[in-house]
Amino acid sequence: MSGTAEPTAMMPLRVASRRPLAHDIVLFHLVPEAGADLLPAFDAGAHVVVMTPAGLTRRYSLCNTPGERHRYEIAVKREAQGLGGSRSLVDQVQVGDRLPVGRPENFFPLDAHAQRFLFVAGGIGITPIVAMLRALQGGPRPFELVYCARSPEATAFADELRAPALAPHCRLHHDLGDPARAFDFAPLLAEPAPGTHLYCCGPVPLMQSVRALSRHWPAGTVHFEDFGARPTAAPTPPSKEQAFTVRLARSGLEVPVAAGTSILQALRDRGLPAPSSCESGTCGACRTPVVEGLPEHRDYVLDEDAADEIMICVSRARSPLLVLDL
Ligand code: FES
Repeated sequence: MSGTAEPTAMMPLRVASRRPLAHDIVLFHLVPEAGADLLPAFDAGAHVVVMTPAGLTRRYSLCNTPGERHRYEIAVKREAQGLGGSRSLVDQVQVGDRLPVGRPENFFPLDAHAQRFLFVAGGIGITPIVAMLRALQGGPRPFELVYCARSPEATAFADELRAPALAPHCRLHHDLGDPARAFDFAPLLAEPAPGTHLYCCGPVPLMQSVRALSRHWPAGTVHFEDFGARPTAAPTPPSKEQAFTVRLARSGLEVPVAAGTSILQALRDRGLPAPSSCESGTCGACRTPVVEGLPEHRDYVLDEDAADEIMICVSRARSPLLVLDL
């Protein structure tokens, strides 16, 4: 999730330390001002919004052990080709600086009823998952991680993942940038053990591959966190998107959805709020039944060929008219 407007109620946190974690990845520790209250609590999988020096908000998973309230730990990958948010953090922010930071939110929580966990991480997508490993470590529920990184130098938290406490649970895979060396997830995902929940965070191609290979898993057991890797509303440049019309079946009201605008936003603009949470196609909160028309799915919850439901925060329409059960 990203943007330019500063969310309300951001806390000014001080950068207590920064250190290189892997190639182009920096680990920051953010603490409250001396004498200030402890930080709001968070669970594994939570993230905070940070206002970067470039004036862009960015979402970062909290990596530290859930329950810690004296600091937040975030790992920032310097995206050389990005809009400049992460780059400004890595290049400009030094120990002692203040950063506006929002309260933790969690669209990627560990399932309380899961009996075991399978984690798949790619690149900087390890960050929410390392907090999950720390939360589960030493507990009764088994867990396993496959972490794909380009090279040993690009592997974040490598020392911790290789240490005796976590090493038996972790497989680190390096493809060295060669697609022929990509990890083969098919055998791993073929037959989910009963009670297993799958959590995946990483680049879009990795999540798409895992999503395709886990379609047969029981409903509600596969979870994705896009970690801002996916544009919040427009994987296609807005200039190339097609406008369409949404008709609300219960009232007959028709709402035009322009290129570059989500259905959710178009409804809001007409004073018609709908449920939502992550607004990036990962949580399922905005799931809406489709009565007529052809959805174009851009989320991580529904199958690509699902015809009777749509996530209105990111998905669009292939047909000129989409009739929703609203
Ligand atoms: S609000 Fe989370 S999927 Fe749409």
